[in-house]
Amino acid sequence: MSVTLTINDTAVSAPDGGTILEAAKAAGITIPTLCHHPDLTDVGACRLCVVSVEGARGLQTACTTPVRDGMVVDTESADARAARTFVLEMLLTDHPNDCMACEGNGDCELQRWVYEYGVEVPEHSGRRHSYQPDSDPSPVILVDMNKCILCGRCVRASYEVQVCDIWNFSQRGFTTAVVAGMGQALRDAGCVSCGACVAYCPVGALFDRPSVGWGRATSQTKVRTTCNYCGVGCQFDLNVSDHTGRVTRVTATPDAPANGMALCVKGRYGYDFIHSDERLTEPLIRDPSVLDGRFPGFREASWDEALNLVAEKLVHSRETYGPDSVGYFASAKCTNEENYLMQKLARAVSKTNNVDHCARLCHSSTVAGLATVLGSGAMTNSIDDTTEEAKLYFVTGSNTTEQHPVIGRKMLKMIREKGTKLIVADPRRIELCDAAADPAGSLHLQQRPGTDVALFNGIMYEILANGWEDRAYIEARTEGFDGFREMVMQFPPERAAEISGVPAEDIREAARLLAENKPAAVFWAMGITQHTTGTMNVMTLANLQMLLGNIGVPGGGVNPLRGQNNVQGACDLGTLSNVYPGYQRVTDPDHKAKFERAWGVQGLSDQVGLTIVEMINAAHTGDLKALYVMAENPMTSDPDLNHVREALERLDFLVVQDIFMTETAHYADVVLPGACFAEKDGTFTSTERRVQRIRKAVDAPGVARPDWRILCDLAMRMGYPMAYASPAEIQDEIAAVTPIYGGVTYRRLDAGEQLQWPVRDATHPGTPILHVGTFTRGRGLFTANDHIEPHECPTTDYPFTMTTGRVLYHWHGGSQTRRSEALMAHYPEPRIEIHPDDASRLGIAEGEWVKVTSRRGDFVARAWLTDRVALGLIFGTFHFPKGNVNWATGAFLDPKAKIPEYKVSAVKVERVHH
Ligand code: SF4
Ligand code: SF4
Ligand code: SF4
Ligand code: FES
Repeated sequence: MSVTLTINDTAVSAPDGGTILEAAKAAGITIPTLCHHPDLTDVGACRLCVVSVEGARGLQTACTTPVRDGMVVDTESADARAARTFVLEMLLTDHPNDCMACEGNGDCELQRWVYEYGVEVPEHSGRRHSYQPDSDPSPVILVDMNKCILCGRCVRASYEVQVCDIWNFSQRGFTTAVVAGMGQALRDAGCVSCGACVAYCPVGALFDRPSVGWGRATSQTKVRTTCNYCGVGCQFDLNVSDHTGRVTRVTATPDAPANGMALCVKGRYGYDFIHSDERLTEPLIRDPSVLDGRFPGFREASWDEALNLVAEKLVHSRETYGPDSVGYFASAKCTNEENYLMQKLARAVSKTNNVDHCARLCHSSTVAGLATVLGSGAMTNSIDDTTEEAKLYFVTGSNTTEQHPVIGRKMLKMIREKGTKLIVADPRRIELCDAAADPAGSLHLQQRPGTDVALFNGIMYEILANGWEDRAYIEARTEGFDGFREMVMQFPPERAAEISGVPAEDIREAARLLAENKPAAVFWAMGITQHTTGTMNVMTLANLQMLLGNIGVPGGGVNPLRGQNNVQGACDLGTLSNVYPGYQRVTDPDHKAKFERAWGVQGLSDQVGLTIVEMINAAHTGDLKALYVMAENPMTSDPDLNHVREALERLDFLVVQDIFMTETAHYADVVLPGACFAEKDGTFTSTERRVQRIRKAVDAPGVARPDWRILCDLAMRMGYPMAYASPAEIQDEIAAVTPIYGGVTYRRLDAGEQLQWPVRDATHPGTPILHVGTFTRGRGLFTANDHIEPHECPTTDYPFTMTTGRVLYHWHGGSQTRRSEALMAHYPEPRIEIHPDDASRLGIAEGEWVKVTSRRGDFVARAWLTDRVALGLIFGTFHFPKGNVNWATGAFLDPKAKIPEYKVSAVKVERVHH
């Protein structure tokens, strides 16, 4: 429904229920605003947007007054302009008016309107507040309340966008002020430094501390790109100084498809690694005679020398020991185009399928499990669709507010605003557990690690026992139901409770909530996948969603949250040992013939190659002779690091291509300097299958080169022509051989089209929801999954179960986040979470250093005493080299996906002096 009104003598049609401000904006008419922001609830506080409305008593605030049919509005009446001038004058009576020294200069909404209305600093001064400038110790937010105009945008951003509820008004009248918490420092009030409040502040009262000094610089270029940390796929602008060529700030942009103005601390403040002094700038060749300099044990080399050596060694290994003596680690940090080229190099040039990447260590069980039961192994729905349309979130093995923060915050917003119900199944009491607005509609199932199948089967038993399953859906769309049912009926809630440690009544309650709140969306991450039963865990979750008819519908789906920025794309582009790009099997003769034709080669291998852990094992036994590692760091991210170190030492030849001298690079024979995400063009594919551009904003340091160029140069030297002028050209080749990317082009992406694969051809619009109407494999396959105990259970000698993960302020092996001042200020050293009762029994006090030992190795970290973990459970991370849990984890693999069981290791814990 629309109405017709007149604004400034022009007839305007506008949606019924909209405001005058919105109608004016749509008609190209600007009305000044300060407290309004399109993302936030309008409160009509500043009165700058006042307009004259015929027949109305007095001026009306355009941001809160709804349009009516026949309304006559004058936005530029003398009364309105005079009122705005007065508002601006009054604001200036309590404002420092030192624009030239303010970080907000040039980007300040108050300044803009003051200039536009020609307002002078008034003679009369009001009650001028005097706050301490820079009053908060936050490492990332500069607070200067002298500049605050009490618009309340930070208050609403913290409530409505970030759902942290930290900013608020205190006092009333002349003493009204905006304060954090109860007048506390931001961090004490619970601030997690997302910077959303800064992004919405219209003046210089809140500013990004790492960018102080740059706010006033007018000569900055903004380059739209995609975040290099997690798989949410947030977009933002890198602000680059035209003088120094350095990134000075990250600013959010309302039209970013996944995140809008929201970002997390890593995306907004974790960019300073780009210009770190520790960046690799030259190729390096091992030389034990070099004892000092930047990299003792290595000498600098030209690109020609280094690449010739790498080419010679890789060819030699292939010719002497056979194609499978060479292995390639690709990277979820690199672009789609680079991953495509790496698997092409491995397959077409080295003639091996020994190419894999860290998806093997995070979501290979998701890919294997979902491909088996549904026909494709990716998140079925979109972020907005699942978070907004679901009636219930079932979150398991995902600490969403820390690992996929923008999705986690959207969940919190919907829980609060729409009353979305929440079930968290997680061995830890994560932040989401405390979040439900309606405690009756939320549940935390704290299962013993490694008992997921039993727990989920117990829930499904209860659904079946009550006849809550979606019979019509099961009959119309699935197969394998009888065998599945037979298995599930062996898990009455009491038995599931005995295995999982979750009370039977909670299992029943979970089933009831799921039955009553449809559609429900299931989300998971590595808490589900990193088990010897990872593939079964995933298939069991798919069973649950098929049982309830929740797949192929808005607000439902099976939604694995992919870890790294481009782990989805790296899988899609075939850096997996069993599939070509687009999940085309290497064992299928048709696919082999197709790629032989496309790449102009003969003799592609039809044998499934070695996975990451298998390549490390083969290096250990001497079967793998040469390894090429592109932007991966197995010496931090692989299980059982002592074993990895021995394996790397036994290789004849190791090449590491990276942006830093990583823990793995120390063992390399040749180190090649790559370019980071800000220094090259390409695409990443986010967790919701959205293909997005990254763009070159700054030059790479020294002679470092984009990874795609290095791979092309190397292939040429190995006798295979790879001459692409740009990543766009590589993408055109990808589209030609990868059906799910068939219609993806830079032209479409740069024109702003939003493409979620499958994108079949140049006119296909992409696919926001998978499996609508029919599954990719035809019928969805129910599977019968039994409980199997984890590989390693606690014993007298190793009485604790250790589970692993990441924290908000760091990312994976930490090579980027440990080089970010802002992030290190939040989380400077390794910690383990231990229950206070366990700590007290072991004589461990808060903050003391402890040693954690398994049968394979040990590490030290500071103790954090918290009931986030249950008795007998500890939690640690792999962000810091010496405090890395992977000295203790084991390489026990899921038989199908070959993913290691990071999530369960038996360890002992003791206090140490450090
Ligand atoms: S930075 Fe983010 S978490 Fe901190 S107060 Fe602002 S909105 Fe809240
Ligand atoms: S700090 Fe900024 S956003 Fe918050 S009330 Fe003051 S001026 Fe508005
Ligand atoms: S949520 Fe993920 S993609 Fe978004 S800013 Fe944070 S790390 Fe980057
Ligand atoms: S913008 Fe309308 S009252 Fe502030």
